[in-house]
Amino acid sequence: MDQHVHMRKSVLIAGGSGLVGSRLTRLLLERDYCVSWLSRSNWHKTSFCVFHWDPVKGTIEKSAIEQADHVINLTGANLNARWTPERKKLIVDSRVKSTDLLFKTIRETQNKVQTYLSASGTSYYGNRGDEWLTEDSPAADDFLGTCCQRWEKAACQMESLGVRTVRIRTGMVLSSNGGALPVLARPVKAGVGAALGSGKQWVSWIHIDDLCRLYIHALENKDLEGAFNGVTPQPVRHKHLIKEIAKTLHKPLWLPHVPAFALRAVLGEMSSVVLDSTRVSPKHTLESSFRFQFAELPSALAEIYR
Ligand SMILES: NC(=O)c1ccc[n+]([C@@H]2O[C@H](COP(=O)([O-])OP(=O)(O)OC[C@H]3O[C@@H](n4cnc5c(N)ncnc54)[C@H](OP(=O)(O)O)[C@@H]3O)[C@@H](O)[C@H]2O)c1
Repeated sequence: MDQHVHMRKSVLIAGGSGLVGSRLTRLLLERDYCVSWLSRSNWHKTSFCVFHWDPVKGTIEKSAIEQADHVINLTGANLNARWTPERKKLIVDSRVKSTDLLFKTIRETQNKVQTYLSASGTSYYGNRGDEWLTEDSPAADDFLGTCCQRWEKAACQMESLGVRTVRIRTGMVLSSNGGALPVLARPVKAGVGAALGSGKQWVSWIHIDDLCRLYIHALENKDLEGAFNGVTPQPVRHKHLIKEIAKTLHKPLWLPHVPAFALRAVLGEMSSVVLDSTRVSPKHTLESSFRFQFAELPSALAEIYR
């Protein structure tokens, strides 16, 4: 396996301003990579270059691609706004159209892009009860499953240009700076923590630093290609996750569950994000010799709330 770090190689991160991108940027800069971002906003205060694009409108600064050795696409409208038809279109378009635009630009530009890494989600597999899911399991045909399939299919176009392509099927990213954890922890901190739905649904999770290390692993190991699950080997039931958050924060739990029908009434179709059971194993990730720093939930939460 090629373990060489190419010094001062340039990594362009689309959606680099987000939760995962900001942390990944810091870790890449520490490793002496030259980082730049593609963003819809001109207002980021960074020490490096931010190129402008609008992936939904289809505009992009081509020089972003000309200077890049590697491209990482973390773009995506977030899932926590009510899923109106317009919002659903934006959830899909921000992912698929951003990928199509990167593909077209890489194809049409004189460039040296060697690697394309794309985020995807474990929602690819859908609501699957207690079944263990690996990278070889089939996709779901619900809204998010279909969205992930289209997103990954768009990413795979890069392969036709000879660009090595990796898709990271990401589970619930645990971080104190954003994503699901602060939302789940808020009622626990207020002393009214409760499991959502039956609480038996499986949650496949990953500490943000492990996820960023997995992106770097995929960048630096040139024999990695295809889909890799970005989750620890130890998914937990939702109820267990809430209990463990309460334990870490030294808070009591307010036991009654919030019934699934109430969540569906309040959240609509988006309730699937918290109610679906997806028990994912990082089979190919472990086979690629990636090692998790935070494989177990207590150690991950202890580090986050340290
Ligand atoms: N966090 C998780 O638990 C999780 C789980 C599974 C999968 N993922 C996937 O992993 C990727 C990174 O996650 P994240 O949590 O870091 O995401 P994030 O912070 O919500 O967003 C990433 C970036 O996407 C861009 N963006 C947001 N809305 C957009 C829109 N409507 N059109 C175009 N671009 C838009 C923004 O960049 P600019 O404002 O700079 O343009 C934003 O900084 C995403 O694709 C996400 O779907 C995340």
